[in-house]
Amino acid sequence: MTRPVLVVGGDGLIGAAAAAGLAAHGLPVRATTRRRSLVGADRPWLDLDAWADGVPAADAAAALLADRPAAAILCAAVARLEACRSDPARAGRINVTATATLAHRLMAAGVPVIFLSTNQVFDGRTPRCPPDHPLAPGTVYGRTKMAAEQALRAAAAKVGGPLAILRLTKVLAPGQPLLTGWTERLRAGAPIAPFHDMTLAPIALGLVTAALVRLTETARADPEDARGRGLFQLSADDDISYADAAHQVARRIGADLGLIRPCSWADAGLLTEPPARYSSLDGARLRTDHGIAQPTPWRTIAEVVVGDSAARGRP
Ligand SMILES: NC(=O)c1ccc[n+]([C@@H]2O[C@H](COP(=O)([O-])OP(=O)(O)OC[C@H]3O[C@@H](n4cnc5c(N)ncnc54)[C@H](OP(=O)(O)O)[C@@H]3O)[C@@H](O)[C@H]2O)c1
Repeated sequence: MTRPVLVVGGDGLIGAAAAAGLAAHGLPVRATTRRRSLVGADRPWLDLDAWADGVPAADAAAALLADRPAAAILCAAVARLEACRSDPARAGRINVTATATLAHRLMAAGVPVIFLSTNQVFDGRTPRCPPDHPLAPGTVYGRTKMAAEQALRAAAAKVGGPLAILRLTKVLAPGQPLLTGWTERLRAGAPIAPFHDMTLAPIALGLVTAALVRLTETARADPEDARGRGLFQLSADDDISYADAAHQVARRIGADLGLIRPCSWADAGLLTEPPARYSSLDGARLRTDHGIAQPTPWRTIAEVVVGDSAARGRP
């Protein structure tokens, strides 16, 4: 029997897409859920918040290790900046303590672990940030992800476990509120006010799924394969402003560019501190080891907005 791949956090944006992508590659998948109505043989229940002090209930841990998964992708997290800022203790409990406990158990059982992290472990002062750049997160969210990376690396060193950390920049997918909101307003002839002084280096959800499938297949085939271990980064090859992104959306749907009225993040009153200047990461290793090239930010937006995967270069 083919051992299943465990996806932790199977109802989230990336977890659901990863589970679907792995299934489409013919791999059996078990994806955890916090929704009682979805629980079943392939949908074990897991609430990391219920792991008091990081200690899992015995039945929850046993359910995850049943059939010794061929690999595990850890997608569950408090992944919103505001949620982390408003309750840092809970974010730490879920993103660091419980996640590290789970990863330790999996690796100790010989299960290769793929952990999702973020560009926000860096301070955002260096474009195309190399993987070994010093970590200096500026947000509570980033600090929990840095602490998780460090805890997982320590656990991997202790048990000799196969561990891959995949850092991602902003992931865009069809139907997300930002892009959908822009396209709906522009199509209706209404103005939009994107930030001219806040940047992104976006990647498409489909590319994230492809990278996770590659890393999973590598670890499944040979947990000792160096191409399935260590630090990986997936990012567009450059940063653009949200205003640039809005112009690309407008061009792709044929809307009036005059409807775009850029503003400053400071005018919106949403942020208390200036955003980081850069988010882009150096993604050379995924290209070298797995043939996954970094897209331009323009291509990502075109692909997500109008499904134009052939788009490339500056428009
Ligand atoms: N999306 C991005 O742009 C991006 C960029 C960089 C890194 N990442 C990282 O990628 C990972 C996935 O992000 P995402 O965008 O897919 O986030 P998401 O849509 O918010 O999904 C997070 C998942 O975690 C689950 N979860 C939250 N708290 C949990 C708990 N206490 N116990 C069990 N499960 C819990 C959620 O369950 P419910 O569905 O029940 O709420 C959800 O399925 C995160 O580690 C994030 O830091 C994401």
